[in-house]
Amino acid sequence: MAIKIAILGFGTVGTGLPFLLSENKEKLAALLGEEIVISKVLMRSEETIEAARKEGFSYDFVLSVDDILADSEISIVVELMGRLEPAKTYISQALAAGKSVVTANKDLLAVHGSELRELAKKHQVALYYEAAVAGGIPILRTLANSYSSDKISHLLGIVNGTSNFMMTKMSEEGWAYEKALQKAQELGYAESDPTNDVDGIDASYKLAILSEFAFGMTLAPTEIACSGLRSIRSTDVEIARQLGYVLKLTGEIREVQSGIFAEVSPTFLPKKHPLAAVNDVMNAVFIESVGIGSSMFYGPGAGQKPTATSVLADIVRVAKRIQNGTLGKNFNEYSRPTQLANPAD
Ligand code: HSE
Repeated sequence: MAIKIAILGFGTVGTGLPFLLSENKEKLAALLGEEIVISKVLMRSEETIEAARKEGFSYDFVLSVDDILADSEISIVVELMGRLEPAKTYISQALAAGKSVVTANKDLLAVHGSELRELAKKHQVALYYEAAVAGGIPILRTLANSYSSDKISHLLGIVNGTSNFMMTKMSEEGWAYEKALQKAQELGYAESDPTNDVDGIDASYKLAILSEFAFGMTLAPTEIACSGLRSIRSTDVEIARQLGYVLKLTGEIREVQSGIFAEVSPTFLPKKHPLAAVNDVMNAVFIESVGIGSSMFYGPGAGQKPTATSVLADIVRVAKRIQNGTLGKNFNEYSRPTQLANPAD
């Protein structure tokens, strides 16, 4: 027997999965007692299929999601196409067909998370998206599990790897904005259209998802005050340095009397602040809470291997739940903390 999965979109993260499956083959077999097999891969065109074959991939490539939806042996659909459509339609169809979904799609979860979670609940399947926020840092399950007994008052994060890479190079190497952006794109950190990275929109999506897990509150990304990097000049970076600060693009959520306030903006961080030392593509989330006090979670926020590792960890979690028959139970163990009555692990 094998756990059969399908991948929608075979780009940077998707092509990383086969390598991880093979690198961790024995460990995964020991954990699950059966193999995870990539059964079908949805591609955009014959040309992309041809290109993937040339790179040595020999999967069952398909051009229609219907081939995946109709395959009753596929129990987990891994969506790695990004953006809202057709990802939303395909994920909704997969959930309605009784397939669990793992995705790294922050845009979609930030904008339509509630609707998709409801759909997953209705069809008693899982919807996991750890890789959607801060790539390689397991922050969502940490918030959902470890903070279920705590009350968070403040969250400050560097949650966009591209902009942090750019700010680091501009601050430390004196690079111009354009050079820093080009390098971030070459390294595969930036979105295909980097507008969302540099304008803070990608960070606002991640903040919207974090607000669910950290504060149990649903925020639309449009409700988050947002400004990005475009207006930053090298003089700003230099002035910050001279005054003992580091300029970073941060996302912040804090408790206010009427609820929570959320903002993405360039921020002068005192050099002593733990986030000031978070450089290059690294992300970090700094949390202040009643029980734990101050804590910080640090790791790579983008890149093929860290993101694919996070996606694979979600696949393994779904697979385990399929095996132990808990898929339809404790649905909310990986959802907003206010609904975390019965964490499964
Ligand atoms: N473009 C994103 C970033 C990728 O730079 O953080 C990971 O979400």
